[in-house]
Amino acid sequence: MDSPLVFAHRGASYDLPEHTLAAYLRALDEGADGLECDVRLTRDGHLVCVHDRRLNRTSNGRGLVSARTLAELEELDFGSWHPGCVPADGDEVLDDSRTRLLTLERLLEAVLAAGRPVRLLVETKHPSRYGGDVERRLVTLLRRYGLADPRPADPVRVTVMSFSPLAVRRMRALAPALPTVLLLEVLPRWLRLGRLPFGVGIAGPGIGLVRARPALVPSLRAAGNQVYVWTVNDPADLDLVLAAEVDGVITDRPAQTLAQLRG
Ligand code: G3P
Ligand code: CA
Repeated sequence: MDSPLVFAHRGASYDLPEHTLAAYLRALDEGADGLECDVRLTRDGHLVCVHDRRLNRTSNGRGLVSARTLAELEELDFGSWHPGCVPADGDEVLDDSRTRLLTLERLLEAVLAAGRPVRLLVETKHPSRYGGDVERRLVTLLRRYGLADPRPADPVRVTVMSFSPLAVRRMRALAPALPTVLLLEVLPRWLRLGRLPFGVGIAGPGIGLVRARPALVPSLRAAGNQVYVWTVNDPADLDLVLAAEVDGVITDRPAQTLAQLRG
């Protein structure tokens, strides 16, 4: 069994502020196979990398991300709340890559400039609120960068993910060549046999679900699906998912995960 792919969840987000360019570049430096990011829409229709619906936890702003324009969000500080925003030693310069809002477009450009193979997992948030606009804009952006029809030899390959079957179905219709992950926090009744809907090829169970349902990963794999598990930060959880032969682990701590995988 090959080692699973290691994806940096919101970047190297244990050490640096999540969803900042600095957190993603750190994860690439550490050797992560791929990066995970959440995207939502600004009031003027830009895709930005922010997890929460509200600005309060990860910036010095307040209120809904979707109520602000991109220009307004770019005025905010998305890093200073995190201890990793302080330079760790004398030769480390604190630049705005640790504090500035990251757009998905800027992240795509960074990944394409990495000069090595990178997988990018893009999770769409709040599909029902935007009536499909997130998915349409995501596919348009990926097409502009030549990333909507990935081939195995491409250095950068994008996979899209959602907890929402509706969003995943929309993605399958808009860009059938893009791999898709259906994220699972609880086990829906219809998934008991391990079959995913709409031709989705990858299941994304949370680690809590994997712990609670030891038969889940084997049944998903036996039905021909790949399995990516989130968020695997604890070494004991990594042992658990390795024993279950998962295909990918999504972690806030890529360096620690890679060190454990290398033994
Ligand atoms: O990678 C999947 C995971 O990110 C889903 O949960 O809340 O961190 O977006 P959340
Ligand atoms: Ca996510």
